Amino acid sequence: MTNTIPAQDCALCERLVQFRRDNCVAHPTFHNAPVPSFGALNARLLIVGLAPGMKGANQTGRPFTGDYAGDLLYATLLRFGFAKGEYGLNAKDGLTLQDTRITNAVRCVPPKNKPIGVEVKNCRPFLTAEISNMPNLKFILGLGTLAHNSVLSALGLKQSSAKFSHGAFHNLGMPFILANSYHCSRYNTNTGRLTEEMFSNVFAALKERLG
Ligand code: URA
Repeated sequence: MTNTIPAQDCALCERLVQFRRDNCVAHPTFHNAPVPSFGALNARLLIVGLAPGMKGANQTGRPFTGDYAGDLLYATLLRFGFAKGEYGLNAKDGLTLQDTRITNAVRCVPPKNKPIGVEVKNCRPFLTAEISNMPNLKFILGLGTLAHNSVLSALGLKQSSAKFSHGAFHNLGMPFILANSYHCSRYNTNTGRLTEEMFSNVFAALKERLG
């Protein structure tokens, strides 16, 4: 099995390594390392986010945990039965994912929440490994254009083979389908690009298709 987790001291991205060093000094109690994926590899749904949030996943060590994007994501997962338990904004809340795994296109927190192209590229082998290590995979949900495009590249497909579109389900001629949602960031909900209803509709459609 290919390794789906970068080393704790992964040195592939110069800028992110420097940022990690700075964060270790500024926030010594934070996770400050690549954030591992959450959920079982035998899940049928893989959710792909962008990158850890500074005070979210980079603090707690679990994707989407501890920031606004996680509030919306985990509430929605709980509502549609993709998660069980209670979401407590930390990795020790006992919440479990049901038939679902969550990962990020980039595993280390980037400055200003914006990974640059070379960082997405450097981290892609871990995304490729995720996908190839999920034998029951039926749906990949790309949250936002960057995640969508990185999944296409991880699958060896051209960017033109499927254009990101909120609510779309792309048949790529593979055993799984690539679904799209706008990222559940505070920016997207504040600007009205993504409403809770729009986000829920994507998970309702996934639930129906997964049975
Ligand atoms: N937290 C994550 O882990 N990923 C995102 O894309 C946003 C917040």
